[in-house]
Amino acid sequence: MPLSHRRILLGITGSIAAYKSAILLRLLVKGGAEVQVIMTEAARDFIGPLTLATLSGKPVLSEMHLDDQWSNHVALGHWADALLIAPASAQTLSKMAHGVVDNLLTAVYLSAKCPTLVAPAMDADMWEHPATQDNIRILSRHGVVVLPVGEGPLASGLEGPGRLAEPEQIVGELNAFFQKDTLLSKKKILITAGPTHEAIDPVRFIGNHSSGKMGIRLAEEALRGGAEVVLVLGPGSEPAPVSKRLTLMRVTTALEMMDAVRQHLEVTDIFLLAAAVADFRPAEPAAQKIKKEGRQSLSLDLIANPDIAAFIGANKTSRQYLCGFALETENLVENARAKMDKKNMDLIVINSPNDAQSAFGYDTNKISLLDKSGKLVSFERQSKKDAARTILQAIAERI
Ligand code: CTP
Repeated sequence: MPLSHRRILLGITGSIAAYKSAILLRLLVKGGAEVQVIMTEAARDFIGPLTLATLSGKPVLSEMHLDDQWSNHVALGHWADALLIAPASAQTLSKMAHGVVDNLLTAVYLSAKCPTLVAPAMDADMWEHPATQDNIRILSRHGVVVLPVGEGPLASGLEGPGRLAEPEQIVGELNAFFQKDTLLSKKKILITAGPTHEAIDPVRFIGNHSSGKMGIRLAEEALRGGAEVVLVLGPGSEPAPVSKRLTLMRVTTALEMMDAVRQHLEVTDIFLLAAAVADFRPAEPAAQKIKKEGRQSLSLDLIANPDIAAFIGANKTSRQYLCGFALETENLVENARAKMDKKNMDLIVINSPNDAQSAFGYDTNKISLLDKSGKLVSFERQSKKDAARTILQAIAERI
């Protein structure tokens, strides 16, 4: 039972959905977890601390200090296996995203070493406001697991998204989280992501439309799963996650990407190669900007870049796992199978820009997974975050 003996800090903030926290707490305790409740001042207007203290078997904490006692927020953050904030109000999410500390819960969040999960709850208009959506993105980037909100009638009288996820669903997510945690924890995962840019001259390059999103989502999900991640990231504007367990290596060219991979070749357990590496580079980039005067045409002499996937495939040991990507426009499975065999991959993720809103630049992806044994599984279009989870889950099952 993943919840059994887990130590959970349950943060409750000011939202009408706080009444559901009692049911949530009951389910956590029933699952075998040891729970310490922290309430914000506003939460106390919505549910009584006595109820929560009785259900958890521990006094509820709210204040940074009582008359003669300091609530040690650092110790609390170190004690816990997870900090779960449910309901998380728009206000608390905003404070968390911006590092504001003005109560015990936000102090615990900022000093916690354990993973944090939030279950937002608010009115639909507040949920959909760009400020809230920006805060959610920031928190995701900081490694916070944001649980989905429910849709339906809201206390405001409106209908729409913003309802607190049902307590059973939150417990399910927490269970899945702990399960995943044990599958990938302590694994060293190297991810390549984004395009490479190959210089033609000091101002121009050969590149491609890769945004790096798929690789970055993989890094975020691997971090959530407890892994240590090296992210070798090509040029792009998509922000990389921030974590103590992340080594971020920014590169521009295929040669630099190869160099970064070489540095981690021996210590890596799992390679995930989501980068769209330029297959060729200008043989001799011009030292100065190429001028157009007097030219009717221009030819570039290109030479092949090293194939990073093939290099890893040729050098990996039997305990190392190699997962590559195949971006194909025709004969998807046959081409992917050939690629997997040629580069000695254990698993290949197949996607195609032919599918609506998939691959380059989009936030969603329709993927199929083909493994060495020939097993092929196809998935419906899903967010890249969910696709990342799917891929990591598939690997965790196979290693
Ligand atoms: N790859 C790599 N280094 C390269 C080229 C590709 O590591 N120089 C990796 C990609 O990150 C991906 C896989 O190999 O995981 C497949 O890449 P793809 O470009 O689709 O395959 P290619 O072998 O280059 O074949 P082609 O471009 O001809 O389809």
